[in-house]
Amino acid sequence: MSLLSQTLARVKPSPTIAITGRARELAAEGRDIISLSAGEPDFDTPAHIREAAKAAIDAGHTRYTAVDGIPELKRAICDKFARENGLDYKPSQVTVGTGGKQILYNALMATLNPGDEVIIPAPYWVSYPDMVLLAGGTPVVIEGAMQNGYRITPEQLEAAITPRTKWVILNSPSNPTGAGYGEDHLRGLADVLMRHPHVWILSDDIYEHLVFDDFRFVTPAQVEPGLKSRTLTMNGVSKAYAMTGWRIGYGAGPEELIRAMAKLQSQSTSNPCSISQYAALAALEGPQDYINESRAVFQRRRDLVVAGLNACPGIDCPVPQGAFYVYPSIAALIGKTSAAGTVIVDDEAFATALLDETGVAVVFGAAFGLSPHFRISYATSDEVLADACARIKRFCEGLR
Ligand SMILES: Cc1ncc(COP(=O)(O)O)c(C=O)c1O
Repeated sequence: MSLLSQTLARVKPSPTIAITGRARELAAEGRDIISLSAGEPDFDTPAHIREAAKAAIDAGHTRYTAVDGIPELKRAICDKFARENGLDYKPSQVTVGTGGKQILYNALMATLNPGDEVIIPAPYWVSYPDMVLLAGGTPVVIEGAMQNGYRITPEQLEAAITPRTKWVILNSPSNPTGAGYGEDHLRGLADVLMRHPHVWILSDDIYEHLVFDDFRFVTPAQVEPGLKSRTLTMNGVSKAYAMTGWRIGYGAGPEELIRAMAKLQSQSTSNPCSISQYAALAALEGPQDYINESRAVFQRRRDLVVAGLNACPGIDCPVPQGAFYVYPSIAALIGKTSAAGTVIVDDEAFATALLDETGVAVVFGAAFGLSPHFRISYATSDEVLADACARIKRFCEGLR
């Protein structure tokens, strides 16, 4: 009898974590490696949030809490939704978990039955399809083409919906493309969803605050209040406040769903870290200056990277509206041979040759369901980004 479950056999480990690990190994061997594969801000958590965590320890907030979040934090989350998104939620419609990742996982595990379909626009965050598979559902991938700003169209959504569709997952701004769905785009999708009342909407808003130029963030339940009773609006403090390690995410939606998610959490991890919950409370209720400061830095880096990549022969890099990723096309490089003799048969071969020959670690597009592309996370210093772009340029110039 096999040790491992059939469920686990259906999923693969996160490819972004695997590539970050490979880059770390090469660096440990003494190679000069630039890793642009990890998806987290490179800033420290703001001081007032760190202080709140220390105060929480000293105040004795070191015990189990309510399973899906302390009441003060749930209240602060309701205030955040009202203030920033014009959404009215009660604390009983809010759940707090160990990162946004657990919120998504809880929602899918609590609702999917075998054969239930989940529509996932590609390119997608690597975890969505595997979480759906773990929960026993079937991912239905639809492609957001580069020519369409990596967004799906209402027609594509309409065509993908079947009687078995349980959820559609929307993520704006997107990991891996940085593409944002503005109000008009969401309106078009919402009109389709209003015609299919059996479909639930999972809106992953984790990059809400990282938006550039004149892009205005909106979330589906705000654009179409008629969808609110079947929407889970998910968010968290990881990306907005440089708190990836603290592991606090949250979701808001109908009470029946929220109760089911809390039941699942009560039999798995129980409450998210008590100290992190007090830190998240300080993040949501305290000064919000960090958000604007980090947004300005990321916008500058985005411009640097987009210009640097578009100067590389064969790379076509659209300008993203948000997050801290770019997702350029390398269609013009497929079939070429690198200076060290590697044939660039696909985007995985490109990423592998780039790492081996220049020391720059990026994630290949196939991991996100749309090829031939690669993803760069520009959450690192201007100097490192300039060095990386120069190395990528030399690599592309060396292709024959
Ligand atoms: C699109 C997207 N959703 C959710 C998450 C989960 O974030 P966390 O679990 O740190 O809150 C991430 C993290 O990389 C992400 O990129």
